[in-house]
Amino acid sequence: MWTELKAKAAAVADRHMLDLFEADPDRADRFSAQKGDMRLDYSKTNLDDDTRDQLLALADGAGWQAKRDAMFAGAAINQTEGRAVLHTALRNLDGSAVMVDGADVMPGVLDTLARMRAYADAVRGSDITDVINIGIGGSDLGPAMATQALAPYHDGPRVHFVSNVDGAHIADTLQGLDAKTTLVIVASKTFTTIETMTNARTARAWMQDHGGDPTQQFAALSTNMEKTADFGIPAERVFGFEDWVGGRYSMWGPIGLSVMIAVGPKAFDAFLRGGQAMDRHFCAAEGVENMPLMHALVGMWHRQVLGYATRAVLPYDQRLALLPAYFQQLEMESNGKSVTMDGKAVAVESGPVVWGAPGTNGQHAFYQLIHQGTDVIPCEFMIAAQGHEAELRHHHDLLVANCLAQSEALMRGRSLDEARAKVADKFTGGELERQAAHRVFPGNRPSVTLAYPLLDPETLGMIVALYEHRVFVEGVILGINSYDQWGVELGKELATALQPVVEGRESAEGKDGSTRGLVDFIHRHRN
Ligand code: F6P
Repeated sequence: MWTELKAKAAAVADRHMLDLFEADPDRADRFSAQKGDMRLDYSKTNLDDDTRDQLLALADGAGWQAKRDAMFAGAAINQTEGRAVLHTALRNLDGSAVMVDGADVMPGVLDTLARMRAYADAVRGSDITDVINIGIGGSDLGPAMATQALAPYHDGPRVHFVSNVDGAHIADTLQGLDAKTTLVIVASKTFTTIETMTNARTARAWMQDHGGDPTQQFAALSTNMEKTADFGIPAERVFGFEDWVGGRYSMWGPIGLSVMIAVGPKAFDAFLRGGQAMDRHFCAAEGVENMPLMHALVGMWHRQVLGYATRAVLPYDQRLALLPAYFQQLEMESNGKSVTMDGKAVAVESGPVVWGAPGTNGQHAFYQLIHQGTDVIPCEFMIAAQGHEAELRHHHDLLVANCLAQSEALMRGRSLDEARAKVADKFTGGELERQAAHRVFPGNRPSVTLAYPLLDPETLGMIVALYEHRVFVEGVILGINSYDQWGVELGKELATALQPVVEGRESAEGKDGSTRGLVDFIHRHRN
């Protein structure tokens, strides 16, 4: 199938997208997927009906529907760790049974959710002015992203996020906070992550030294009840979850507590409802109607068939500034793998490098390369029909115009003749040719656009669940396990081994020359 798809891609390589629009007046609608008021337009790509059918056949051949059903039903699809993958249960608000090893997990999920709501309300109604979420990776990126995204709904205490073991992060955050009115939430699935535990201990010492009471002002979010108790956090302030919630998929449950405290249980429920709505769509919509499926197939057309190494996430929404980083973990930690479920080499490229920044800022930074560089970078634009700032409507109109203009420019490009015409009044002869060459845009560059009415909690839930399911489909087609992350282990092990060397308690002997030299440099240049 990959060979056929690659042959097809080669055969249509010179075809211009504008010709596809010319030949099919309904292209924009036919190459868009709709879920409620959300629209994913992938018409500005080089896909045609045949290729799309081939891609759908690829997904069917991989058995994506059966695997999807297995995931929702609680099967242990994370085969290297022998675990179910059930973040969807965390947003299963109607509580229909979800069985893991013969037991319904929903009573536990709903009970924890009720405890979170009660605790969030208590904190919101207390003297607490600031909350610090200490976590990293999936225990940081999701809540940090969502808290910023939902700023218009933020009516609770201020929320800060500390993740990096770099002491600068916690030092800068604690600066100016009142230890007596600060709540620290230690968010860690394992409760062993060195960065998080180091920051948690530093925060505890700070609170003790500044008149706060860590026995009252610490809460924990974890699967590891033993470790939270060892740390001294009483059970009533521990919000637990199970190992079938992956770190990068965990913001829907206890790891989302800081978001809930910020925006309130009602808005958090709306976020869950958005995720659940996307789950239902993913389970019910057929073929081209299925938004996550089509998003995955378009992504694979670009990465695995056409070989484009990266994709840019470009939300035209300042409050989604952290979304590219969040998707980076979601996609790269899930699908950045070289072996299939049975330990064989993956047949094609693994997931792409995901990166990006909000528009319009990116336009003034890296879009130059996207438009005129030698590499093609598929772009994923996101835009709301309206902003929250009703009185600043003209800002939003400009934002929308810029977003739409970028995808149009990428597709349309500018020919040499058009470039010459632009500067013909200023230059002649050889200089005209030289100047015109710099103003040519190759065009025919692909993008997709996700459009929605307003960035409200429900929409945010839909967006995150859309991308989660897209990652799932891509993983199924690649035949990999999207739910483990062995690739992060080696660095952790070596860092642990290097710590005594850096501290000067052990010698660097036995290390490679570069590492020895760098340790020596550090030792000579610190006080
Ligand atoms: O190092 C990777 C990782 O395991 C991520 O998958 C996870 O989100 C992050 O570390 C934090 O882990 P924990 O929540 O257990 O502290």
